[in-house]
Amino acid sequence: MSDTSIDAVRNLLLLRYETLETKSDILKAPELKQLFAKIPTLAPGDRGEFGKAINALSQELKQKVATDTVTVDDRTPIDVSASMDVNALIPSLLSSEQGTIHPLSQEITNLSAIFSRMGFAIEESREIDDQYHMFESVNFPKDHPARDDYDTFMTVETDDNGDPLIAPAHTSTMQNRMLRKYKSNLENNEAISVVIPDRVFRNEDLDARHEHTFYQVEGMYVAKDVHAGMLIATLQEFLQEYYGQQLEVRVNPFYFPFTEPSFEFMLSCPFCNGEDENCKVCSGEGWIELLGCGMIHPNVLKMADVDPTIYTGFAFGCGVDRLVMMKHAIEDVRHFHSAKLDFLRQF
Ligand code: DAH
Repeated sequence: MSDTSIDAVRNLLLLRYETLETKSDILKAPELKQLFAKIPTLAPGDRGEFGKAINALSQELKQKVATDTVTVDDRTPIDVSASMDVNALIPSLLSSEQGTIHPLSQEITNLSAIFSRMGFAIEESREIDDQYHMFESVNFPKDHPARDDYDTFMTVETDDNGDPLIAPAHTSTMQNRMLRKYKSNLENNEAISVVIPDRVFRNEDLDARHEHTFYQVEGMYVAKDVHAGMLIATLQEFLQEYYGQQLEVRVNPFYFPFTEPSFEFMLSCPFCNGEDENCKVCSGEGWIELLGCGMIHPNVLKMADVDPTIYTGFAFGCGVDRLVMMKHAIEDVRHFHSAKLDFLRQF
């Protein structure tokens, strides 16, 4: 019975969705609330499956709203999916005065400068890495289901264990290396504090919010007596500096294998501060999910021979493209690698 009632609500809501002026209203549909309210009335054995199906529906709707409501604010829309004219004449080369630095490069310089002023060292990641750094060193045991979230590209070359080398799907691959590189700081009673902005890769279905190649900035801070309050204050400070205004933050519990506890970090919308229910950036929610973070898992420290009974630390990983899209109200992540001059010349 569970599936049929969810299917019926789904059909109803999808129809209603088409008629709504404010698309995000669909997420407040009473029928959705009623489905959630039904869970406790079911036999305990049926609740899990029913709950999963409702979550899948609610995710589907959120995704739809997000895709349909993010539109350009002050950048000119361009059709990124239009194919290039392969027979076009070779353009005469632009003179260097006409060129500009790519918006992602500009912003990576900008955010690195902020972190640097906050006392973080800046390091680079790699574009080919091994599975030990991608998974084992950050506490994903072999066959752990969370590995599925990081599907990426493989090369035909293999590492010493015979596993294919991969294009890293996150910058957390650098955690173990950074702990080892800066371990002497701890011995000298100084913190390890480093950020790593660099390129990552995922096997994604491409759309306005998903690219196969994008940027993350990873951050780590390890010392004695580090606590979650320091993590939150650091991120809030960074984001306020980056967006040039006071912002509120909210943390929700989350799961990552490499942090315990783990959090999802939400930011009050820098565009509308929650005051515009038609806001294109936050869809009127007032909050934006921005990054993952948490307290570094003791196993991650142990794997780099750092004693977790003496030292603790926090880590975070943030999508740079997302930060920049929010800063400039860019509606489609594919612009960044589209090589279209009408987009690039706006920066
Ligand atoms: N590596 C995570 C990802 O790409 C992001 C992340 C989350 C990094 C939490 C962290 C962290 O360092 O603590 O999904």
